[in-house]
Amino acid sequence: MVGIYGGSSAPDMPPRVQIPLGSEDAMTLQFPTSDDVSESEGPAAKASGSSKLGPTGRPMPSFPVPKPIEVHGQARVVSMCNQKGGVGKTTTTINLGAALAEFGRKVLLVDFDPQGSLSVGLGLNPHEMDSTIYNLLLDRDTTLADVVVPSGIPGMDLLPSNIDLSAAEVQLVHEVAREQTLQRVLAPALADYDIILIDCQPSLGLLTVNALTASHGVIVPLECEYFALRGVALLKQTIDKVKERLNPALEIDGVLGTMYDGRTLHGREVLERLVQAWGDQVFHTVIRRTVKFSDSTVAGEPITSYASSSSGAEAYRQLAREVALRWPDA
Ligand SMILES: Nc1ncnc2c1ncn2[C@@H]1O[C@H](COP(=O)(O)OP(=O)(O)O)[C@@H](O)[C@H]1O
Ligand SMILES: [Mg+2]
Repeated sequence: MVGIYGGSSAPDMPPRVQIPLGSEDAMTLQFPTSDDVSESEGPAAKASGSSKLGPTGRPMPSFPVPKPIEVHGQARVVSMCNQKGGVGKTTTTINLGAALAEFGRKVLLVDFDPQGSLSVGLGLNPHEMDSTIYNLLLDRDTTLADVVVPSGIPGMDLLPSNIDLSAAEVQLVHEVAREQTLQRVLAPALADYDIILIDCQPSLGLLTVNALTASHGVIVPLECEYFALRGVALLKQTIDKVKERLNPALEIDGVLGTMYDGRTLHGREVLERLVQAWGDQVFHTVIRRTVKFSDSTVAGEPITSYASSSSGAEAYRQLAREVALRWPDA
């Protein structure tokens, strides 16, 4: 933590270590102002003499475009999970899904948050849904086909949700095999899709346990801010418990740094600490902070179509290529 807020602004620093305002060295050392500086020529890159270090401080590999798939099916189910809100779960679900669909994958997105942000983010009105994932979970007569809607993106469908889902958490408690309910209702979809992405709610309650039980993999989005790592131990414990008791096949597919600002030292330090804690589970791809994401939510579409050539869209395409390398048969 030393040095993060240090420097010229610290009021009680002895004069000999005070950095004069306007000193160019001090400015570049502490507050680089260009994105490029942090991307390829940050302190670590300078130290090693390499110019190909990525934002996580490791050499940046290249990620090939995934090969076309001839026969669809045998979906890999992946939960987007972090009990903290506002870390980029929904944004990652929409945009990773859309990027994978661009690569010819058949994608199903599952809105598993009663707030319904994923559904709203794809232009749906929460009050105008005939049936939602809630009905699929709790009404025996509702089938997958009754609930699935097109997302507006070719190759990508959606199981929407709205506030009704908040009742499911309580009602599921009385069900037999309550933790396996989502797994059971999603089973018929596995044959039709290549990837199923579940957007979890910000809690570690029964709905999230259902998502983890239904999944082959978990992606953990983490905001590149201080305190991002708070609560991560609890999340890891939950994942481990589900793996031990309910779903031995569950794997962590990766940890994704989101809302990264390469101009700040602390953004880079958070990434550094992420790599120290999670090693190669941290994706090389990092999602930068840009207002284009909230703009595209308002527009009700993924950034890959709303601002197709933006850096945010490119970042999610790169994530799609990177994650596909980690998935068997993706
Ligand atoms: N990389 C980013 N840069 C800027 N804003 C972002 C970024 N990712 C997400 N956001 C915005 O932050 C807010 C929270 O993101 P969201 O994906 O809804 O998080 P979560 O689903 O974890 O609660 C949303 O308003 C979203 O538009
Ligand atoms: Mg969300």
